[in-house]
Amino acid sequence: MSAGTFKLDGVDVAFDDGDTLLAAAQRAGHHVPHLCWHPRLGQSGACRVCTVRVDGRWAAACTTRAAAGQVVENRTPAIDGQRRLLLQLLFVEGNHFCPSCEKSGDCLLQATAYEMGMTGPQFEEFYPNRPVDASHPTMWLDLNRCILCKLCVRASTEVDGKAVFAIGGHGVGAHLLVNSPSGTLGDSAFADSDFAASVCPVGAILPKRRGFAVPVGQRRFDRAPVSAQVEPQGDREGGHGR
Ligand code: SF4
Ligand code: FES
Repeated sequence: MSAGTFKLDGVDVAFDDGDTLLAAAQRAGHHVPHLCWHPRLGQSGACRVCTVRVDGRWAAACTTRAAAGQVVENRTPAIDGQRRLLLQLLFVEGNHFCPSCEKSGDCLLQATAYEMGMTGPQFEEFYPNRPVDASHPTMWLDLNRCILCKLCVRASTEVDGKAVFAIGGHGVGAHLLVNSPSGTLGDSAFADSDFAASVCPVGAILPKRRGFAVPVGQRRFDRAPVSAQVEPQGDREGGHGR
């Protein structure tokens, strides 16, 4: 039995004790745009793309507990406009070249940008100098695409029990760190069977020798927009199923 209901864009959504707004909404089949949330992992609040208005106040849906009677605004033009701004900043902070990325069509950042109606970056590109780490035998790490969502950090710690990843630095200097003697993936405890190996929402952590196995145009978000693919049970493997 549910603990109560709240209104999400005028629709009643049931929640269980301890549910966040985002978890309850997604389980009920309603899309709340997000990048750093995963149903198998703890809360982070890193990306703020899930920001909604709860009884008139801004709140991150992935860290805000559901309560009976809340009135939640989610997909309004004004809120989506703020999300579009956040996405544009993410795109210019990194080096995202969708047409040549093998995650294109399967990337939550790209799919969410399309969902928010983003047509260009608007801001000047930073073009940061970021390394590619190809030292691991079966996986590679392309930090050009990293959006610092911390999903790999949490997956490696909470699920894999390895703590392979961490975030270091601050502001525009923030970056992903690998916990190994050399600081590279090759001599870390990382394995391609780790949950952290499949959770990246963008193309920053990818398997080697498996590029373009599914042709561009036939990938998940090529087939339907992200908002049409909410999986109500909310608990599936990998980073694509959100
Ligand atoms: Fe997120 Fe991927 Fe960067 Fe890890 S590598 S912080 S999962 S974007
Ligand atoms: Fe809520 Fe990222 S999904 S802050």
